[in-house]
Amino acid sequence: MSDFESLQEPVSGSPEAADLTRLAFAKAGVAPPALPAKAKRKRRRSRLRGKAKAEVAPAIGGLPSVLAGRYRLERLLGAGGMGLVYRARDLLHEQFGEPTPYIALKLLSEELYEAPDASALLYSEFALTRHLRHPNIVRVYSFEVDTQCQRAFITLELMHGLTLDKLLCERPQGLPWTEAREIVLPLLDALAYSHRQGVLHGDLKPSNVMLGESGITLFDFGLSQAEAGVLSGLPHLNRNRLDAWTPVYAAPELLDGAPLSVAADLYAVACVIYELACGQHPYRRLPSTQARNERLDRQLQAPKHLPRRCWPALRNALSLDVVDRSINAAALRVALGGEGSGLWGWWRGRKG
Ligand SMILES: Nc1ncnc2c1ncn2[C@@H]1O[C@H](COP(=O)(O)OP(=O)(O)OP(=O)(O)O)[C@@H](O)[C@H]1O
Ligand SMILES: [Mg+2]
Repeated sequence: MSDFESLQEPVSGSPEAADLTRLAFAKAGVAPPALPAKAKRKRRRSRLRGKAKAEVAPAIGGLPSVLAGRYRLERLLGAGGMGLVYRARDLLHEQFGEPTPYIALKLLSEELYEAPDASALLYSEFALTRHLRHPNIVRVYSFEVDTQCQRAFITLELMHGLTLDKLLCERPQGLPWTEAREIVLPLLDALAYSHRQGVLHGDLKPSNVMLGESGITLFDFGLSQAEAGVLSGLPHLNRNRLDAWTPVYAAPELLDGAPLSVAADLYAVACVIYELACGQHPYRRLPSTQARNERLDRQLQAPKHLPRRCWPALRNALSLDVVDRSINAAALRVALGGEGSGLWGWWRGRKG
C-alpha cells in the first residue's frame, strides 16, 4: 500500500466503506501525463460553458443536466469507489414515443476521470460487459463522450431492486437455504458463463449483485479482465501503475499482487455465498491476507443455513491458499444445487 496513492479512500471503520473498490495509482515518481495546453484551455472553456448553461437547466453534481445532447440526468443512483451512476432519461427514445426511456448512466468519479488510463478503464468495462449476454448479467448499451464537458460515460439497462449488501442489512441472520439458493445458483450460472466467455469479474461482492423482481443481476465489470486471446484488441492497462481491489472480498494472492484469475473470482463469490447462508463474512470482514496470516481458515465453520453436503465445495472455494482452491464456478454450482439450470444445462450438454 505504501507505494500507492489511493484516490478514493473509504471512510475508515465503516463496513460499507470497506466494501468499496479502492483504485490506486502508484506514485512511483510517475506524474500523470500533462494535457496539452490547448486541451486544458478547451476543457476550462467547456466547464465554464457548462456552468453558464447550468443557470438555465440545473446541473447535477457539477455535470451538465443533459449529456451528449441526449441523456437527461435525473438523480444519482449510487456512488462506488470508481464511478457515479445516475438514472437518466433518453430524450431521443422519448421523442419517438418510448414509454420507458430510462437508463442508467455511469461515469468515472471526479477524482478518477482525469487520471491516466481512466477512459480506457471505462471503455474496458463497456467492452467486457457487452461481450456477455446472459439473463443474470447487466446489459450495457453504449460508450459515449460528452464533448462539452469532456467526460466519457456508458449507458446500461436500468436495474430495479435491492443490492445484496442491503438485503443482508435487512436479513442479518442470512437466508434459509431455500431462499439463498435462488440467489446463489443464478449467480454461479452468471459467473460460470462469464468465465466460459473468458471474462473474469474481479470485483464480486454483495453490492455488485442486484436482486429484483425477475431475479438477480450481476453488474459492475469495472475491474474485469479478459483472459488471453479474448477481446485482444482492448488496450492493456498498465497493471504496475494501476491497482484496484475490494480488500474484504479479494483473494489473498490478488492482494499479494498476482494477476486476476478464475480462482480469485471463486474466493469472492464463496464469501458472498457464505454471507447469504449465515449473515456473517467467513473471515470476520478481514482482508484475506490478514485472515491467512492468522490462519483463520483452520477455524472456519459451515454457515448455519447451508446443507451439510454443500460444505466441502464451498470450503474449497474459501481456501486462503490458491493451490487448494481448485473448484470452478460450474462445479460449485453443481455441488450447491445439482445440474445447471434446466435449459442452459441442456444447451451446454447439446454443444458437447
Ligand atoms: N444499471 C444500474 N441500474 C441501477 N442502479 C445501478 C446500476 N449500476 C449501478 N447502480 C447503482 O450504483 C451503485 C454503484 O455502481 P457500480 O458498482 O457500477 O460503481 P462502482 O463505482 O464501480 O462501485 P464499486 O465501489 O463496486 O467499484 C451500485 O451499487 C448500484 O446501487
Ligand atoms: Mg460496484
